Amino acid sequence: MSVQDWPRSTSAVEFGCSLDIRALGQPGDRDRLKGLCPRLSARSRYMRFHGALNELSETFLDQLMDVDHDLREAFVALQGEEIVGVARYVVAAESPSLAEVTVLVADAWQRQGIARHLLSRVRESAVQRGITGFRASVLPSNEPAQRLVNAVAPDHHVFRTSDGLGFRWSHSDPASRRHFARTTAAESSTPAASP
Ligand SMILES: CC(C)(COP(=O)(O)OP(=O)(O)OC[C@H]1O[C@@H](n2cnc3c(N)ncnc32)[C@H](O)[C@@H]1OP(=O)(O)O)[C@@H](O)C(=O)NCCC(=O)NCCS
Repeated sequence: MSVQDWPRSTSAVEFGCSLDIRALGQPGDRDRLKGLCPRLSARSRYMRFHGALNELSETFLDQLMDVDHDLREAFVALQGEEIVGVARYVVAAESPSLAEVTVLVADAWQRQGIARHLLSRVRESAVQRGITGFRASVLPSNEPAQRLVNAVAPDHHVFRTSDGLGFRWSHSDPASRRHFARTTAAESSTPAASP
């Protein structure tokens, strides 16, 4: 599927300004992604990439830009020309119905519902491709991400991985469906459980 097939969406009310969420892959996105890195704290970079990262190398940018809108998909949230958040999924090698999800929001934009909205777009896209389950790898000290999973997928399962925790959930479970119905309706969400 071509990136042009994905509609742009704008939410002006919730974020207090105009914010577009669309698939990654438009001209200029490589530079926009590069521009996101300096707007991330060292902690956010560490939590997302599980290691110290001062800048995005060209090789790493190649990997981040490598979406085919089928097995590898990414959505970006933009304020004007700046990318302020990215969520992506990659279909798991062992199962076409399972995808690995990651999400990242620039520090100045955190706690405004952007990750929720990006994950909602990820879910919509995954449904269209027959993906029924998600997996996310989170460092044990990453409380925000654990709380985010609790908020969007309360029925998740947790397991140990080599470098932290794995979360697995189905987007069709009743609690997740209720959450995303609320997100779509732009209503306020229930408080998160403890991680
Ligand atoms: C985790 C992360 C993506 C959350 O993004 P965000 O846009 O701030 O998240 P949202 O505003 O959509 O928050 C959704 C819910 O998640 C939980 N949450 C998110 N950040 C939280 C925090 N710092 N403290 C407590 N709860 C948090 C809350 O339940 C929140 O709902 P609420 O604000 O109504 O209470 C962001 O902190 C980030 O980019 N961290 C660095 C990268 C990372 O850790 N990625 C995850 C591993 S791939």
